[in-house]
Amino acid sequence: MALQEPIPGPDSGKRNKLLDRDREIHDWYRFVLGYPPHLVRLYLDRLEAEPGEDRVLDPFSGTATTPVEARKNGFSTIGVDANPITSLATRVKLRWGLDTDDLIEQLASIIDDAAGRLLAHDLDPLVDGGFQTRLEDKAFEGDIPDLGALTSGAAPSEPVNVDVILSESAKKLIPKGFISEKPLKRVLALRLAIEENTEVIEREEFFFLALSNTVVSTAGNLGFGPEVYRKSPKEDAGVLSDFFGVSAQMIHDLTRVQNQGDLPSAWTRSGDARTMDCLEGLPPSDLIITSPPYPNEKDYTRSTRLETVLLGLVEEQSDVQDIKRSLLVSNSRNCYVDVDDGKHIEDIDEITSLADRIEEKRIELGKDSGFEKKYHEIVRHYFGGMYLHFESLKDHLNPGAKLAYVVGDQQSYFRINIPTADLLEKVGKKAGYQPLDTELWRERFATETEKTIDENVLLLEYPG
Ligand SMILES: C[S@@+](CC[C@H](N)C(=O)[O-])C[C@H]1O[C@@H](n2cnc3c(N)ncnc32)[C@H](O)[C@@H]1O
Repeated sequence: MALQEPIPGPDSGKRNKLLDRDREIHDWYRFVLGYPPHLVRLYLDRLEAEPGEDRVLDPFSGTATTPVEARKNGFSTIGVDANPITSLATRVKLRWGLDTDDLIEQLASIIDDAAGRLLAHDLDPLVDGGFQTRLEDKAFEGDIPDLGALTSGAAPSEPVNVDVILSESAKKLIPKGFISEKPLKRVLALRLAIEENTEVIEREEFFFLALSNTVVSTAGNLGFGPEVYRKSPKEDAGVLSDFFGVSAQMIHDLTRVQNQGDLPSAWTRSGDARTMDCLEGLPPSDLIITSPPYPNEKDYTRSTRLETVLLGLVEEQSDVQDIKRSLLVSNSRNCYVDVDDGKHIEDIDEITSLADRIEEKRIELGKDSGFEKKYHEIVRHYFGGMYLHFESLKDHLNPGAKLAYVVGDQQSYFRINIPTADLLEKVGKKAGYQPLDTELWRERFATETEKTIDENVLLLEYPG
């Protein structure tokens, strides 16, 4: 596979950014924890993957950058993730066969229905007077109707009762100030309209993903730096017009990929990469390009919390806990007392001595909060969990399969350096993989330590 473009260097701020030419499908829903499609192209090329022959798996697929890009380049692919919102993104972004005429028809009913619900509250459905924000200068193939015409015919209908749609426990899951009252009503009007007007789950999920995009980029008061934070509250936002724009763009992208003829197969599964049970019955893979979490105190469920709650994917605290438990231990908020993943790497000295050093430093510094006491455990359970992952993966790989794991070094725990890729290499070796190389992907400036830390790509081979 030949690479078509120069890629910005490891010290460039553009290294990890989405290139304009890659927006198609990738842009449907992305998050700050992802890598760009050109990384996937680079490693398909580096690992000499053959389109039409090799199958590409991503066991931590997040927003599906690997499977989407692999498929665009002619590879059959499998995407797996454990978090419901990223699993939804993976499913929708790989469902390229939906009938676009049906989607256009349903988009029109959704907009009409949501507009009526908003009019019941005297809320102007369009707020910003049009839908051009994301659609300027776009010529759509297909018959996307005019938003102004769709909303102008709407009459006031059922009001949106926030307290009925979102239970008290669900509301409590949204961090304070993440969304203001009017945008919230607009989002919920759309959620109800989607539920009422889509007859099959595939179409419902398609529009739910469009709504997730709108929640993050337009409706919420969210900033990412890279941790999610609350920005100053907006009084109102053009939620309906943005949703319409995103949906229209998604339908347009589908039309384009469908015009390209035969598509390589794609499978998606929701499941825990420490067991890989969810791959049962699927064909084995030849290549992995992935970025698992790494021990860095980032709570993955928080960065996607607003859209997860507003789409009804979680209702109460115990649902969030269930998700946290299904993820690799990588922060003190998903390091539960009954987890014992760490026992699998007790014989890897470099990891146990690093974890011991973190604990000694805590004692030396006199730090004794519950969080800090967990730091050394996180390191053990993280690498132990990755061992389980490597072990269970072997049943689903062809001999000679090549693996690329993108992971960052860390200094989150009392500034003790965690060379993630180096340690992961040892875990991979213990599980029977052969190290090929470790390459620098990018240097990141860490504000808390004012140092650059490396994000690397660990390359392994599965001998079989
Ligand atoms: C760094 S993100 C992947 C980002 C992805 N490369 C992209 O471009 O969007 C890591 C993902 O791993 C998922 N994850 C964490 N633990 C998991 C587990 N045990 N099994 C499956 N997925 C898991 C998280 O939900 C998250 O989406």
